[in-house]
Amino acid sequence: MKHYLTLGIETSCDETAAAVYDSERGILSNKLFSQIDLHRIYGGVVPEVASRSHLEKINLIVQEALDAAGVKLEDIDNIAVTSNPGLAGSLLVGLCFAKGIASFDSAQDERGKKLIGVNHLEGHAFSAFLEYDIPFPHLCLTASGGHTALYLVRDFGDYQVIGQTLDDAAGEAFDKVAKLINLPYPGGPVIEKLAREMEFKDFFNYPRNKDIGLDFSFSGLKTAVLYDLVKRNAYSMETKKFTQPDNEQLKKEVASSLLVCIADIFEQKLERAFAQYPHVKAFTFVGGVACNKYIKERLRILAEKRGKAFFSPSPQYCTDNAAMIALVGNYKAKQGKFSDLSLDVFESE
Ligand code: KG4
Ligand code: ZN
Repeated sequence: MKHYLTLGIETSCDETAAAVYDSERGILSNKLFSQIDLHRIYGGVVPEVASRSHLEKINLIVQEALDAAGVKLEDIDNIAVTSNPGLAGSLLVGLCFAKGIASFDSAQDERGKKLIGVNHLEGHAFSAFLEYDIPFPHLCLTASGGHTALYLVRDFGDYQVIGQTLDDAAGEAFDKVAKLINLPYPGGPVIEKLAREMEFKDFFNYPRNKDIGLDFSFSGLKTAVLYDLVKRNAYSMETKKFTQPDNEQLKKEVASSLLVCIADIFEQKLERAFAQYPHVKAFTFVGGVACNKYIKERLRILAEKRGKAFFSPSPQYCTDNAAMIALVGNYKAKQGKFSDLSLDVFESE
């Protein structure tokens, strides 16, 4: 089969990202502009701010990805772009840009560039393949700011949800609890740092929901932390404010207890999933929350104890990126699964 190049574009939330994937050599470049500093003052992502920023940066980031890969736009065969799920206004920037390149190129050259719509979650679910060869079938836990799900993965593009969150995502629990105790957005990294200072001790024993099979629920956890803070006279329901902003010890205890609780929940689900799907050969842990070294280590130990190979991407491929979108684009191209110019964005999965 002919060797080809795929340009990946990702703008589903607050990262403007582009990457180039070579069907023989793998990932050639991975560039990104993170909008975190723009959204931090609001304590979360503001959709209007996000789409405007994507518009400003996309041209630059795509050019950076091409330059870093040492290729020209003319050399690109496929444009893989995230079409769902995500913020509609943000997704549209990436999709319109991708369609622009694809249609301009077809007008110039009848060979044209092929357009490939990619599901963002499929990107995360296969992101570990950017660095590793992973045997099928395997289980995958995707945990990010917008999604938390367990998949049974049979092959490239062939996967099934076997458990998912019924409300908030795991990353959202980190972000919301961080906000409750005046820690900056995103909450995950700072909570991990504080928890490490407390040697990952569990001070408050927050609830671990046990009775929902392989599904997850994190909104109750946030509420449990809130009520516990109220009980400790550390949060006012009237002003909706943390009333002990200088109490560093309390922040660390909350951070450590929350992290241990979420790690326990993941461990328990994974244990259950291995029991239900004993034939799987491996386990992959992906998405922004997989940057967390403590959770990663606990899940690695569990997987290996059950005889499953463990894989988790490096942090640059855990958080939102275009390399994972280009990788999915590459195998979809191999499978002949192209999109046409009627491709549209949608916010849902
Ligand atoms: O995958 P991602 O960049 O974006 C989404 O698709 O949502 O994930 C971002 C999420 C945020 O909620 C952030 O708090 C969380 O990943 N996160 C972490 C860590 N680093 C990022 N959560 C726990 N521990 C971390 N070290
Ligand atoms: Zn994501």
